Amino acid sequence: MSLESISLDKNKPGALGYDEWHQVQMLMREAFSSVDIPRTQSEIDFFVHWEDPASFRRSRIDPYAGDFSPGQSFARPRVIRAFDKEDLVGYLYAADNTSGNIARRLMKMYIPHLIQKKYVWLREIAVHPDYRRQHIGNMLGYLALQDRHPAQSISAYVWRENEAAISFVEAMGLEETGSKTVNVFGRTNNPAEQVRFASTVAEVERRLLCVPEVAKLAVKRAVRTPGNAWLV
Ligand SMILES: CC(C)(COP(=O)(O)OP(=O)(O)OC[C@H]1O[C@@H](n2cnc3c(N)ncnc32)[C@H](O)[C@@H]1OP(=O)(O)O)[C@@H](O)C(=O)NCCC(=O)NCCS
Repeated sequence: MSLESISLDKNKPGALGYDEWHQVQMLMREAFSSVDIPRTQSEIDFFVHWEDPASFRRSRIDPYAGDFSPGQSFARPRVIRAFDKEDLVGYLYAADNTSGNIARRLMKMYIPHLIQKKYVWLREIAVHPDYRRQHIGNMLGYLALQDRHPAQSISAYVWRENEAAISFVEAMGLEETGSKTVNVFGRTNNPAEQVRFASTVAEVERRLLCVPEVAKLAVKRAVRTPGNAWLV
């Protein structure tokens, strides 16, 4: 596989139809099933709503729906996808997030001195096992930041047991800021320690631009065709 055959797009979640969301769900299932974590297939299937593709899609199209905690507000969710020709090989979902009621009221206001109250949440990312370690994850991350403010904080939550994902977020310059125990695998006695990592948009972008594949992508975007802004 050469990176030349990879194309990327970025959309609002509602722009993707049922089949496209199902493709994402299948990719996530394959991606998590292949990593070295102490999880059974049924735990992973529970995590990706395998028996219920409609709820998988619903909770990503409407960030208020489904499995989000009360008091959390989300805005400007975006889906970034990587394709090798027709095949979906990578996916990232990001949104602006705030916690608490005051922040919630500020959520709709996109003005500079309030922007820092909304952090960018890198909610989920998956790259097909056959396409890893070629900086597709980095390219997805780079595109996720392109319409965010450099002063915004950015955070990602990773299970402690997922060492590859921890290395991935640390390589982007995110640093551990805390952790909690979560039950995301259904009726299991094996909860996960979820670790929060954080940095700023400016710092992550600076790190990513040191990766040659990302720098090339940045140049391509700079000369993109008007009217086709997100296609690279
Ligand atoms: C995490 C994941 C998305 C990374 O995708 P990727 O396209 O392979 O990542 P990249 O090639 O952009 O990696 C960038 C850097 O991250 C680090 N990294 C990525 N995968 C790593 C691994 N398995 N082991 C150690 N470091 C790793 C490296 O520093 C790498 O740079 P290098 O290859 O020049 O050393 C992919 O492994 C995946 O889909 N995992 C399953 C789903 C998942 O765990 N998602 C994260 C949940 S928070």
